[in-house]
Amino acid sequence: MKLTIFAVTGGIGRQLLEQAISAGHDVTAVARNPQNLSPAPARTMAADLASADPAALHPAVAGADAVLSELGPRSKADAGVAARGTKVVTQAMHAAGVRRIIVVSAAPIGTVPSPGRPHPPRHDQGDGFIVRYLADPIVKRALREHYADLARMEDVLRDSDLDWTAVRPPRLTSKPVTGRYRTALGQNIRGGLFVSRADVAHYMLSILDQAETFRRTAGIAN
Ligand SMILES: NC(=O)c1ccc[n+]([C@@H]2O[C@H](COP(=O)([O-])OP(=O)(O)OC[C@H]3O[C@@H](n4cnc5c(N)ncnc54)[C@H](OP(=O)(O)O)[C@@H]3O)[C@@H](O)[C@H]2O)c1
Repeated sequence: MKLTIFAVTGGIGRQLLEQAISAGHDVTAVARNPQNLSPAPARTMAADLASADPAALHPAVAGADAVLSELGPRSKADAGVAARGTKVVTQAMHAAGVRRIIVVSAAPIGTVPSPGRPHPPRHDQGDGFIVRYLADPIVKRALREHYADLARMEDVLRDSDLDWTAVRPPRLTSKPVTGRYRTALGQNIRGGLFVSRADVAHYMLSILDQAETFRRTAGIAN
C-alpha cells in the first residue's frame, strides 16, 4: 500500500517506518527534523506540524492509501501539537480525498474530558482496580496537558468524516517486536500495563484495511 507516516523520528514512528518498508509498503515519511533519519527513505518531507498548513501537506498525503501518525509532544514546548497537527493532517487528507488514518493516543484518554466529550465515563471498562484507583489518578495529574492534547486530537478525528482509528497504548517500552499482544476495540486491556513501541507499530500496520476498526479507538497491551 502507499503509506504516509507522520512523526517518523519518534519511537513508534521509527518502528512504523522500518516495519512498513520491510513489509513492502511504499512509504512517504514526514518529519519535523528529517536529518535525524538515517537512512532516510526515498520520499522524505520536512514539516513542523505546529505551524504547517494543509496545502503544504498536500504533496505528502496525495495518493496515499493510508496515513499513520504518532505525533505527540516531545516536551512542554510542543504542548498542543497532537490536536493542532492532526487537524492539519486531516484537512490535507480531506482535500486530497484520502480517507484512512491511524494515530497513537494513550490508554487513559477514554476518561479524559475534552470539548467534544465533556462528560466521558469515569472509568474505562477494560481497566481494573489498580489502574482505576491508583495508576490513573497519578499519571493523569502528571500528564494533564499532554492528555488534554490527546483528548482534543481524538475530538478532531471524531469530528472528521475519515476512517480513523486511535490506538490507545498504556506505558510504552522499547522491547523488540513480538506480534504477541492483546487488543480490544473501544476499551483498554485488563491487566495490560505495558506494550512495546514495536508492537504498537505492528498492530497499526495490521489494521490498515480492517473496516471494523474504522471510527473506533483500540486498546492494546502485552
Ligand atoms: N511514552 C509512553 O509511555 C506513552 C504511553 C502512551 C501513549 N503515548 C503516546 O504515544 C506517542 C508515541 O510515543 P513515543 O514515545 O514513541 O513518542 P516520541 O518518541 O516522543 O515521538 C513524538 C514524535 O512527535 C514528533 N513531533 C513533536 N512535535 C512535532 C512538531 N511540531 N512537528 C512535527 N513532529 C513533531 C516528534 O518529532 P521530533 O523527533 O522532531 O521531536 C516525534 O517524531 C506519544 O506521542 C504519546 O502521546 C506515550
